[in-house]
Amino acid sequence: MGRKAREIADLDLKELIKALDKAYCDEWLAFYAYWYMAQVVSGKGYEDMSEFLSKIAKDELEHAREVAERIVELGGLPTNRPANFEKNANAPYPGVMKKLDDYDEIIKLVEDAEAGAIEVYNKIAKMTFGKDHDTYQLATHILGEEITHEEIMENLEEK
Ligand SMILES: [Fe+2]
Ligand SMILES: [Fe+2]
Repeated sequence: MGRKAREIADLDLKELIKALDKAYCDEWLAFYAYWYMAQVVSGKGYEDMSEFLSKIAKDELEHAREVAERIVELGGLPTNRPANFEKNANAPYPGVMKKLDDYDEIIKLVEDAEAGAIEVYNKIAKMTFGKDHDTYQLATHILGEEITHEEIMENLEEK
């Protein structure tokens, strides 16, 4: 971010970078939990569940990339050690299902993580609205996808 861009960004940059880094760490934790569950899930119709989890995991990895890119543009650096992801994140590691074919638990884990993500990006969107247009746009774009993830899981619940 150049001088003029910093000048018009009417907010505490350090605070914003910290909020983005927390979200960045959340994304990696969610990615890993979902990706892992996609590999090990078993039981009747596991292929479908595996596919949903893989698709959502892919989105989370893309979010991590987009958030990292924005942190760097703002002059910061994202968390550089996986060992610090949990420490720096908003929420603890979502965890994975205890029984590999327990779809109810998988759905619950993902729904809880997505609810957290929705809150996080809603907060960042409010923080940047009218102040930092690029970050605002990124936050609302990711927010839309987190809302879709929650919906995917809620629809599975009804079956
Ligand atoms: Fe995400
Ligand atoms: Fe998500």
